[in-house]
Amino acid sequence: MIKFNIPFIAGTELDYINDVISSKAFQGNGKYSKKTSELLSTYSASKKVFLTSSGTQALEMAALLCNIKKDDEVIMPSFTFSSTANAFILRGAKIKFIDVDPKTMNWDENLIEDAITQKTKVLVPVHYAGVACDMDKVNKIASNNNLMVVEDAAQCILSSYKNAPLGSLSDFGIYSFHETKNIQCGEGGSIFINKEEFWDISEISVEKGTNRTKFLNGEIDKYTWVNIGSSFLMNEITAAFLYGQLIDAKAVINKRISLWNRYHEFFENNEFVEIQEIPNYAKHNGHIFYIKLRDSNVRNKLMLFLRECGIDARTHFIPLHSSPFGKSKCEFIGLDKYTTLDSNRLLRLPLHYYLTINDVDNVTGKIEKFFKEQ
Ligand SMILES: Cc1ncc(COP(=O)(O)O)c(C=O)c1O
Repeated sequence: MIKFNIPFIAGTELDYINDVISSKAFQGNGKYSKKTSELLSTYSASKKVFLTSSGTQALEMAALLCNIKKDDEVIMPSFTFSSTANAFILRGAKIKFIDVDPKTMNWDENLIEDAITQKTKVLVPVHYAGVACDMDKVNKIASNNNLMVVEDAAQCILSSYKNAPLGSLSDFGIYSFHETKNIQCGEGGSIFINKEEFWDISEISVEKGTNRTKFLNGEIDKYTWVNIGSSFLMNEITAAFLYGQLIDAKAVINKRISLWNRYHEFFENNEFVEIQEIPNYAKHNGHIFYIKLRDSNVRNKLMLFLRECGIDARTHFIPLHSSPFGKSKCEFIGLDKYTTLDSNRLLRLPLHYYLTINDVDNVTGKIEKFFKEQ
């Protein structure tokens, strides 16, 4: 069986967890939260980092910091995870989706301006598969229209845009450390507060609306409720686990990229499939290798064929505007030329730290066989 994903284990996680247990300090914002945030800060080039209990929570915190009010509009691609939209809907926003660029499955930046109205407040680029959106274009549109930008970089640890880490290029960025991500702690995330003007308020939001951080830093002698906030923080045991993982992050990503490259070499000139393009400005992290088949029929047949061969390949997001909730609550602006069509023919191939080059050759060999038999 070639599994689609096996979560990475560094092997050092238990040592750090034992350290937390001996210290008897389990709540968030402790020693490992600090060490892990510092490491993330060097990886992300972001000076203010908080660990959160999920990527979803990080997005919800970003939506809170954007000060979303009822009926504010937020623009994003429909080809994303529900959390990207939920975070803003929870604060009363209206979601406007735009179409993807089929070359990357990221949103097509040329369509953003058509979706902007007087009510637009935030742009949310989603860097799909760890491949950067064109952030110069996004930031220019944002500054011309006085909008905020939240990068959904859930899949993007150690990916970059023009050598700047994803998540660091706008007002706020988020990562996910869900079990399915390159670096994982089961459920976890982080938020990057990239503008200094939000540093104070973010310390309050992350601590349930209190000024506890100032208290912990010895700046005040007791803490109290000063604004709205929530319990966004990651606990210390999870932070310790994540610390072990993050130390090995570069090795994990190098291994994934070598496997990604092997797939790429095989499919580069293949007449039956299309593969993603990596724009010149982007360095990716080998998070996903996908192929696009002629149509959903061929994609589903190939997926079944691979399953019978013991290979687990997977589809990905069902576009949010065609989901039951998205249909009733959100709006797709402009034509859906590629979002539905291309998500229906996309197939992700197995890719994880424990996969070997032989496994990749086995997968590509079976795909070759499938096409010969057609
Ligand atoms: C693009 C995107 N955004 C947000 C999330 C949510 O992250 P989490 O599962 O850590 O809450 C995910 C998770 O898969 C994702 O892929």
